[in-house]
Amino acid sequence: MPSPALLADTAPFSGALRAPRSWLHSDAPSLSLNGDWRFRLSPTADLPEDVARPDLDDDGWDTLPVPAHWVLHGDGRYGRPSYTNVQYPFPIEPPFVPDENPTGDYRRRFDLPAGWPEDARVVLRFDGVESLYRVWLNGAEVGSASGSRLAHEFDVTDLVRAEGNVLAVRVHQWSAASYLEDQDQWWLPGIFRDVTLSARPADGLEDVWLRTAFTESAGTGSGAGTVLPELTADASAFPVALRIPELGVEAVWESPADVAPVAVGPVEPWTAETPRLYDATVAARGETVSLRVGFRTVEIRGDRFLVNGRRVVFHGMNRHETHPERGRVFDEEHARADLIRMKRFNVNAIRTSHYPPHPRLLDLADELGFWVILECDLETHGFATAGWQGNPSDDPRWRDAYLDRIRRTVERDKNHPAIVMWSLGNESGTGANLAAMSAWVHDRDPERPVHYEGDYTGEYTDVYSRMYSSVPETEQIGTDGSVAPLLGCTPAQGARQRTKPFLLCEYAHAMGNGPGALDQYEALVDAHPRLHGGFVWEWRDHGILTRTADGTPYYAYGGDFGEVVHDGNFVMDGMVLSNDVPTPGLHEFAAVAQPVALTFDGDELVVTNRRHSASTADLTLRWSVEHDGREAASGSLDLPVVEAGDSVRLALPAIPVADDAETWLTVTAELTADAAWAPAGHVVARAQLDRSAPRPVTPAGRARDWQDADGTLTLGPAVFERGRLVSLAGRAVAGPRLELFRAPTDNDEGAAYGDLAYSDASVLGVSSASLWREQGLDRLTHRVVSVHEAENGVRTVTRVSAANSAHSVTVETVWTLTDGVLDLRVEIEPSAGWPSVWPRIGVRFDLPDRDGVIDAAEWFGTGPLESYPDSTRAAYVGRFRATVAELNVEYARPQETGHRSAVREVDLGAFGFTALPDGRGRLPGFSLSRHTPQQVAAAGHPHELPESDTTYLFVDAVQHGLGSRACGPDVWPEFALRPKARTLRLRFRA
Ligand code: GAL
Repeated sequence: MPSPALLADTAPFSGALRAPRSWLHSDAPSLSLNGDWRFRLSPTADLPEDVARPDLDDDGWDTLPVPAHWVLHGDGRYGRPSYTNVQYPFPIEPPFVPDENPTGDYRRRFDLPAGWPEDARVVLRFDGVESLYRVWLNGAEVGSASGSRLAHEFDVTDLVRAEGNVLAVRVHQWSAASYLEDQDQWWLPGIFRDVTLSARPADGLEDVWLRTAFTESAGTGSGAGTVLPELTADASAFPVALRIPELGVEAVWESPADVAPVAVGPVEPWTAETPRLYDATVAARGETVSLRVGFRTVEIRGDRFLVNGRRVVFHGMNRHETHPERGRVFDEEHARADLIRMKRFNVNAIRTSHYPPHPRLLDLADELGFWVILECDLETHGFATAGWQGNPSDDPRWRDAYLDRIRRTVERDKNHPAIVMWSLGNESGTGANLAAMSAWVHDRDPERPVHYEGDYTGEYTDVYSRMYSSVPETEQIGTDGSVAPLLGCTPAQGARQRTKPFLLCEYAHAMGNGPGALDQYEALVDAHPRLHGGFVWEWRDHGILTRTADGTPYYAYGGDFGEVVHDGNFVMDGMVLSNDVPTPGLHEFAAVAQPVALTFDGDELVVTNRRHSASTADLTLRWSVEHDGREAASGSLDLPVVEAGDSVRLALPAIPVADDAETWLTVTAELTADAAWAPAGHVVARAQLDRSAPRPVTPAGRARDWQDADGTLTLGPAVFERGRLVSLAGRAVAGPRLELFRAPTDNDEGAAYGDLAYSDASVLGVSSASLWREQGLDRLTHRVVSVHEAENGVRTVTRVSAANSAHSVTVETVWTLTDGVLDLRVEIEPSAGWPSVWPRIGVRFDLPDRDGVIDAAEWFGTGPLESYPDSTRAAYVGRFRATVAELNVEYARPQETGHRSAVREVDLGAFGFTALPDGRGRLPGFSLSRHTPQQVAAAGHPHELPESDTTYLFVDAVQHGLGSRACGPDVWPEFALRPKARTLRLRFRA
């Protein structure tokens, strides 16, 4: 019997476990045990220990690759993934777990390779197993361990043989450790990282830590470096030599007592922008390890977080390890492509939420350049539900487990220059065990600050960190002298927190269409130096590639595998879709986080270098002038080298201004040469200046002599039947029809975070979407009040309302034909008293396929991607073309998408229109879809959208903002759409 005792043991391991050490690139012999293993899955942990027996006949077992999660193999035979955010998928009765505990038995045979050193100790290493596992070699028990995303090494010297070894591992999905691993992600059991056997020569290097520091020599960009070596090695390993050939370093230490700091210089610093690495080796008698060192000094001075003496601003992403087919199994190519994508989108920092990633990821971060907050594998969020009662974080029985986790975290990755902070974990309440972890880190690595968001009052951490604080609250944190209460703090505690550097470890929840307000947070960071930026939640969707019964592929989320408890699509909250496609939100982020600011002041362009330390020497400035989106002139501007923090003013080029078109100047900052992460020409920043000459808008003509409409009326390209539009340019068209509904975004559906700062108290805890449904915005009915026609016009008044509602909207549409020009004016007038914000104020035109499918648009306006009132920074004015499929984003759960703001001209092939500004100069937006918002709202996944025989054109006078209320603040009032009267003016042409 296994051991209910073992499963409920809060001790993190048993047996011959070795002390944690760095993940090193060593020349000592090793043998990868990855590959096919024999595998058997049982529904319970209550099993005989036959798995350990070398003579057990496992021929009938299945095979399963290592590394892998068993639930992602076997087509359901091995269970299915399950997703929860905060909830524990088992009863909360710590440290116990249910007997229904999927248990995987793994076996594999191996021989030692020829030439394996006989006198070396032999170490068996597991880089990641979820959640608790026991190991036997040749029938003898080696030990057990938990800490799923942490490495464990067992000494198997006395058990291993030259040939015919039988290694057995029993993995339990649930254990006491599961209480500490309640991160918001899929539960994915199995041996999911590498298994390696390595020889540890007696005269080898047990551990190496090259701590580095950098001091800049004023104004030179380079400076003095120091290497502070810490070697863990037997005396017999000496002499040991540290070599950094490029710096001419060769330090040879004859004995452990000789090991001493080495001053080097001049060196170039390591930063996230200039990830300068130097190849180093540390050679002992019996082993050489290779490292890539970067020189940098991390420091907190007052309320500033500095690297190499300069303030760091995190333009960061929370990065989970997730792959649509592999789950948390590391795929280096995929990870590298993701990091390159991050660099291209101006991301400069990563928080490894909420556990250490595969160790190789840190090599990539060093190489490509990211500020990394490396987080320990810890979360006990499920205890929040019961007011944190019984939370392991403050229970002495769990102290060893907490300390074991942080030791394994820090020791494994301590050599990486990219890591500038350690994080104790996520959402684990607070308590003595967290304080103990922090104390351990402070002692072991005094050079890196300790982060933990849950330490609201700052009792044991070095930086003040919050998640999802609203814009006003973040501003209060950034300003001195405010007595505004901070979350969980007394005024005095709040005052203390304000003496520290502040960062948002999570903000801008990127679920579905959104987030809004990225620019507002960025403006705060620019204004208040205590604010050091933050980390968007999160980098990518965690969709699991799945197929419907009929074979249609789709990305699954919570509930798609029949889980008993789950949290739906809350796991699809990334800036990148499951299929690697960057969302418009990520484009917005790139525009907001651009490393140089390009602004216009009169006839000058002001270029401000917003980087940490790199100059603009790598950038070229290009410009172009467009007339109504068509290029009229272009060139480049000489950009002198602008140092970080400086700015320069440049004269604008001569701009040819058109008198019959809009004139826009676009300036871009582009990479001059190929970088490690993007080719030459890659745009890092863009700005536009409107230089249009004022142009009168020809007013629409007037019709008079109105009479009751009946029969057919033709106005230029438009045909009306009893006042109703039936065709345009020879094809069937119906509309305009008022539309106030949009398929709710995940943020529209969010209710958890009503925000006292600016929501109506009456709607706290209620999502906008549910108010919309309550008011019937998704099921409006229409009653034509009057229809009139004149020789050159048609006028309709319609009252629009919903069942059982006394609120209404009166819509007047007036078509006129004057000198061959067909104008439409739509007046939209709400009755008094509509209670909540509206999703949109617009009209819909139906374009049935039977006269030819309209499947693309060309437009002059903003693009190329969708934009909404609080997410407009990536949109620029130009002429664009896209198919309906390209116009709309395939969010994991279908929702509002595709709105192009401030449109001037749209051409749909068969016909087109010009949008004229309303009386206050505002332009509408448009979208084109194969589905109505009602159809989109009803689909849980893209494949559930019905077949369509119509294209729908929406012209919106205005849309509601996006916000990030799926887990964060609601739409800012300026961008919230309150019911109001609006006018649309469109001029159609065939
Ligand atoms: C945070 C948490 C994240 C994630 C996010 C919502 O509270 O730290 O892991 O759950 O909310 O998506």
